Amino acid sequence: MKDHFSIRVASSDDAEEVTALLQVAYPRLMAASYTPEQLRALEIMTQANLKLLQSGRFYVVQNEQGRVVACGGWTCERPGNGGVEKGLAHIRQFATHPDFTRQGLGRMVFEQCQNAASAIGIAEFECYSSLNAELFYRLLGFVAVKPIDVPMPNKVSFPGLLMRRPVGSRVAES
Ligand SMILES: CC(C)(COP(=O)(O)OP(=O)(O)OC[C@H]1O[C@@H](n2cnc3c(N)ncnc32)[C@H](O)[C@@H]1OP(=O)(O)O)[C@@H](O)C(=O)NCCC(=O)NCCS
Repeated sequence: MKDHFSIRVASSDDAEEVTALLQVAYPRLMAASYTPEQLRALEIMTQANLKLLQSGRFYVVQNEQGRVVACGGWTCERPGNGGVEKGLAHIRQFATHPDFTRQGLGRMVFEQCQNAASAIGIAEFECYSSLNAELFYRLLGFVAVKPIDVPMPNKVSFPGLLMRRPVGSRVAES
């Protein structure tokens, strides 16, 4: 299956397609774990983040027709406050279109992040996981550290999980 997809570094030209992907993937794939009110508060997170797209550390997966069907990346800056800690990087905005889930695309994006981060000496990844994505990140070798409340507009509570993983260790076969 993987052979039918290709991955590349994103650019600001991908903004429209990435937004379209996030706007379908987030509400549909998160619906089982969150209330309609919480999902409405997600709107701001379903806009492509230009800073991420221009960072060289955000990736898109395309199918054979060139359609963007998955995305995700990493930053040295902590989401929210922008703080940087030596050796630590943060997993950002992973999404796979609902028609293309469970085909290894999220894993493909993670492996790209892993290769790039290890090349500059990052030792550990941290991730603010949505509740629905916990099993996905666990499969990739992340361990849940503690429950967190992801800050959202309108003070809506958006529960998630802080998860961590050493960058270097190999992704387990599923
Ligand atoms: C989380 C997400 C990116 C996973 O994308 P994906 O392309 O389906 O992931 P993969 O196919 O690479 O999955 C790899 C493994 O993770 C596990 N996994 C993935 N999604 C899972 C799910 N919903 N439930 C249980 N296990 C899951 C599986 O073991 C899978 O391997 P398998 O299919 O061979 O069993 C996708 O479900 C998504 O976009 N969710 C909504 C947005 C979101 O929550 N993003 C994370 C924000 S922190």
